Amino acid sequence: MPKIKIVPSILSANQDKLQDEINEVEEHSDLLQVDVMDNKFVPNITSQAELLKKFYTKVPLDIHLMVKEPSEEYIKTFINSNKKLKINNITVHYEACSNLEKILRFIKKNNIIPCIAINPKTPLGKIKKFLDKASMVLVMTVEPGFSGQKFIEECMEKVKELRRLKPRLDIEVDGGINDKTAPIAVKAGANVLVVSSFIFKAEDKVAAIKRVLKSVK
Ligand code: DX5
Repeated sequence: MPKIKIVPSILSANQDKLQDEINEVEEHSDLLQVDVMDNKFVPNITSQAELLKKFYTKVPLDIHLMVKEPSEEYIKTFINSNKKLKINNITVHYEACSNLEKILRFIKKNNIIPCIAINPKTPLGKIKKFLDKASMVLVMTVEPGFSGQKFIEECMEKVKELRRLKPRLDIEVDGGINDKTAPIAVKAGANVLVVSSFIFKAEDKVAAIKRVLKSVK
């Protein structure tokens, strides 16, 4: 299995102290996730590409677009928003894209890792034909839209099957990940752990990251 990566999602960080909160966790983060919502694909809204102008980090970003029909023009707004930041991957939802293959190709052409996300209710079979076009798959472990929800353990069946099909793929899980659920996800085959409230609502954020890492050793 590929290396375990820890990915704090800044969704539940204190937005008024965003830079301080990022500074606190960045030494211990493999990637930082930026969640982007449009109030169409999910019932919640966030800042769009301009959010990337509001902070700096040397940690590469994981941009999770919970957005209906993200166009090439829209994706470009993220790529061009803040050239000082490095974007590792851009994740688009299978359920949100009528031409998934085209959008994955566009992301890759911009030297960014293309990643496909699937919601808890979406069967893995739906994305099998796209697996060779993505270097990472995000198996959502909550319905997207909000942090602080409960981990849906049934999603682990998809993680297990994906790991069986793709031994070297980066398999990301997102939603309800903490020091109790991370070991379940890793045992199933996930190696990229997105964690938001467990880190950013903790008194000591670095200690929370260390607890998650220790739980999967
Ligand atoms: C959910 C987002 C997640 C969310 C996870 O829609 O994609 O990244 O921030 O939050 P926690 O870790 O609190 O479940």
